[in-house]
Amino acid sequence: MKKYLYSDETLFRNGDLFEIDYVPEEFHFRESQMKDIALALRPALHGRRPLNIALRGLPGTGKTTAVKRIFAEVEETTPRLVPVYVNCQTDTTKYGIFSRIFAALSGHPAPLTGIPLRTLIGKVGRTMSERGVVVSVCLDDANYLLPNRVLNGVLFSILRLHQEFPGARAGVILPMSTMDVKLPQELDSGVLSVLQLREIFFPPYREEEIAAILGERVRRGLYPNVVSDALLGLIVGQTMRSGDLRVGLDLIRQSALLAERDGRTAIREDDVLAAYEVSRFVQLSASVRALTPPERSLLYVIADMAVGAGSYLSTGAVYDAAAEKMAMSYSSFYERLRKFDQMRLIELSHVAGNGRTREIALRWEPEKVREVCG
Ligand SMILES: Nc1ncnc2c1ncn2[C@@H]1O[C@H](COP(=O)(O)OP(=O)(O)OP(=O)(O)O)[C@@H](O)[C@H]1O
Ligand SMILES: [Mg+2]
Repeated sequence: MKKYLYSDETLFRNGDLFEIDYVPEEFHFRESQMKDIALALRPALHGRRPLNIALRGLPGTGKTTAVKRIFAEVEETTPRLVPVYVNCQTDTTKYGIFSRIFAALSGHPAPLTGIPLRTLIGKVGRTMSERGVVVSVCLDDANYLLPNRVLNGVLFSILRLHQEFPGARAGVILPMSTMDVKLPQELDSGVLSVLQLREIFFPPYREEEIAAILGERVRRGLYPNVVSDALLGLIVGQTMRSGDLRVGLDLIRQSALLAERDGRTAIREDDVLAAYEVSRFVQLSASVRALTPPERSLLYVIADMAVGAGSYLSTGAVYDAAAEKMAMSYSSFYERLRKFDQMRLIELSHVAGNGRTREIALRWEPEKVREVCG
């Protein structure tokens, strides 16, 4: 075995398996959810509109993976249904989202600017209508579009394409990791009545499921004996503690890198414990990376205040502090807070009996948030 390890000086058989956008070859424990998604798409195989579905489940429960696998199968199987995957953390405008749909239909990117939104939507609608293809749009992490009611506007346009362009049929898939989104409050009744959303639930993985998933990844991604069974048990325990499978995947990667750096051929307990101090923040780091610079500055202000203040901050105090550093209306300040809440960076709660005042609690250690934002 050492022959392999020393020849290319790595413990990784295939490092790609630990990248965050990796779509696993084996996708166990999600059989019923995959069937439900397939069932919703099936009408499209006969040229009919797919059912609209929401995929609900905590972070790391396989929602994105499920969609990517089904969409890959659709692409292999039929040209009648065109799948469009949109990451709403990066595509946050109606123009951006219709550009994705246009690109999927035409095979080349839409002009970044220069044509009005109406013209872009018209191109999409006409193409669908003329070619008779059905479109399934996955708005991944759709809850990111709730501030400023972007989601409402996007759904309105997608679901009503057929009115202006006869035969243009489209359905949506809405994966959401926040369990407390109440769509009836977020969407107009006109949108809701067309949407008729069915919910597919992704429960958290149980301990033995996490053990099986991580064990599989270790077998495929690392050389044999790099991770002992006992250490895999420790990694599974830490993953359960953090509540996100991604932490476990990152933990394996970071631990192996630490061992590799020391020129060892197996990871040790202290590698895992040291790696946990990095890996448990994978979600925080990913969320902060997805923020715009002004959003990041606002989060920094909140973290900075929270370092001194303890548990709760009032929205008024934070607005005053932030307004000294950046130009921002109260309403755009509040929409940013709503976005942080959706991203599980903060928890925004009402203060009983006081209309406009809310309390803000950071969900992560303030020092760490400051570090990541800084
Ligand atoms: N059943 C599974 N088998 C193997 N790997 C899995 C499984 N479920 C999830 N994963 C892995 O866990 C990671 C997180 O999964 P995924 O991105 O699908 O979660 P999610 O539900 O979309 O989370 P979020 O709400 O944070 O977007 C991915 O890297 C994926 O490879
Ligand atoms: Mg996801």
